[in-house]
Amino acid sequence: MKIVIALIVFAILVVVCSLLFIYSGVYNFSATEPRTGLARWVFDTTTEQSVSSHAKGITVPPLEDESLVQKGFHHYNETCVKCHGALGVSPSKMAEGLNPKPPDLTERADQWTPAELYWIVKHGIKRSGMPAFGPKHSEEDLWAIVAFVKHQLPTLSPEEYQAMKEAEGGKQ
Ligand code: HEC
Repeated sequence: MKIVIALIVFAILVVVCSLLFIYSGVYNFSATEPRTGLARWVFDTTTEQSVSSHAKGITVPPLEDESLVQKGFHHYNETCVKCHGALGVSPSKMAEGLNPKPPDLTERADQWTPAELYWIVKHGIKRSGMPAFGPKHSEEDLWAIVAFVKHQLPTLSPEEYQAMKEAEGGKQ
């Protein structure tokens, strides 16, 4: 019985302390303050678990088609590169002010399955600066972006990226 009472008191204390922390405004939510320690773990782990859980059951279409990858490059070069950059292409100055920083997808693409990449690109990541592309892009466009990020971006040299841009008549 004493243990039950102790557990209830402990639970109430945890709730009260959490509310005090939230309402005190002591946590610095500015983008100039690095996310470290527990807060970083909570944000990163919640994001990763959410993506992996929501991506379950998504059927992945064939992604090796050359014209699909080319279409994906077009979208990547138009939008994603401003925040994520590419080999030989720096992100824009605006992206430097984001927190968390947009990761280098040439390194991170391997960490996600195609279904997870699709889910991230379609829905975005809440409170992070990663936009949802689903509302303004067709299913084919979303998969094209996944095809490019997964199958070509990590192996694309700076020269090859430039060549693809020129082939597109890119202006960036
Ligand atoms: C306005 C800036 C911005 C644009 C544009 C943008 N992203 Fe992001 N993206 C982010 C930020 C910030 C994160 C980090 C989110 C986090 O860690 O919670 C992110 C995270 C991601 C991730 C997860 C990476 C990881 O390993 O944690 C993927 C994948 C991704 N973006 C793909 C894309 C693709 C593909 C596009 C273009 C269709 C794109 N993003 C456009 C800002 C952007």
